[in-house]
Amino acid sequence: MDEVYDVAMQNVCKKFGDTVAVNNVSLDIRVDEFITLLGPSGCGKTTLLRMIAGFEIPDSGKILLDGVEVTRLPPYRRDVTTVFQQYALFPHLNVFQNVAFGLERRGVERSALNKRVAGALEMVRLEGLETRRPNELSGGQQQRVALARALVLEPKVLLLDEPLAALDLKLRKQMQYELKSLQKRLGISFIFVTHDQEEALTMSDRVVVMNAGNLEQVGVPQEIYERPHSEFVAGFIGDSNIIEGTVESSSADLSLIKISHATIPVQGNGVQAGQPVRVMIRPEKIRLSSHDRQGVLQGRIASAMYLGEATQWKVMLDGGQLLTVLEQNTASAQAMKTRVGQAVSLSWEADSAVLLRG
Ligand SMILES: Nc1ncnc2c1ncn2[C@@H]1O[C@H](COP(=O)(O)OP(=O)(O)OP(=O)(O)O)[C@@H](O)[C@H]1O
Ligand SMILES: [Mg+2]
Repeated sequence: MDEVYDVAMQNVCKKFGDTVAVNNVSLDIRVDEFITLLGPSGCGKTTLLRMIAGFEIPDSGKILLDGVEVTRLPPYRRDVTTVFQQYALFPHLNVFQNVAFGLERRGVERSALNKRVAGALEMVRLEGLETRRPNELSGGQQQRVALARALVLEPKVLLLDEPLAALDLKLRKQMQYELKSLQKRLGISFIFVTHDQEEALTMSDRVVVMNAGNLEQVGVPQEIYERPHSEFVAGFIGDSNIIEGTVESSSADLSLIKISHATIPVQGNGVQAGQPVRVMIRPEKIRLSSHDRQGVLQGRIASAMYLGEATQWKVMLDGGQLLTVLEQNTASAQAMKTRVGQAVSLSWEADSAVLLRG
């Protein structure tokens, strides 16, 4: 028997006039999975969610829920609920009534309804606030009412379109934690949309990076961060150094790349000797040591930026390129200042440098 997926998209396309919002997307989202759609504004995240929910019909391709095709079914025929960015609570209804609304419309009988609303409010820890109106709640509490309103319908899939965007940083962190543990407890798939790369990395089982309607890369957070396939993914998630070089040789899983006067080993293959390539290395993977030691590349510290727990150095390579290096602040502040202008060697673990494709 084929494995049953909670959500499957097969070659889904959606255009608005000349704008290709979603371009030939295929993606399987497993039962129990917390998956995040990440990408810049206008890349098609909301459109993708709206097609899963049934608010938009794809121009071509299929959408399946639990193995059953739903591509053209209306939203109310799908076991999916959505929490929108503007959580749009009914201002004239209290918390209980807001959460009960969807069940009333479905004609759920009173005692069952009371029980389910109480359960949903308990899940988001809003017991005791049943009779408050939305304008008597904090932003985070309102957000949790919106969540309870979706959860009370007991969906198989919960879609969350930037639900935390309006919250301040502290509340946002707290809600991230609550959402994640709620998802694990419920055991249903959450499809979560965010602009925020850190949020995507910390919350997700898998991250889907989108760019202009396309899926750029799909993977667990570590893969997305440590092994980006493209410059777009490397640049969108975290800081990265991109170094231009030429392939000297390539074998098995390792390639030797010539950069100005040095040759560095890099993870990745499928390239030919003489070919120009780009190599990515994260700022925190680079170690700086004094110039006389053996390093991979040589350079000079051009500037320092104090970030509290870490310092961000800009290092001018002998070849003329500027790299960013991030170091934890273990040395004294005074020792750090004196380093600007010094010659340094740069080194890293061989598997920290990644060959970019495309
Ligand atoms: N109803 C519509 N009519 C016309 N164009 C639309 C419509 N909905 C979306 N688009 C266009 O489709 C593209 C994708 O939009 P979408 O809302 O999916 O992006 P997004 O990734 O959710 O962006 P954001 O992060 O800003 O919310 C954009 O170019 C947008 O302008
Ligand atoms: Mg959107």
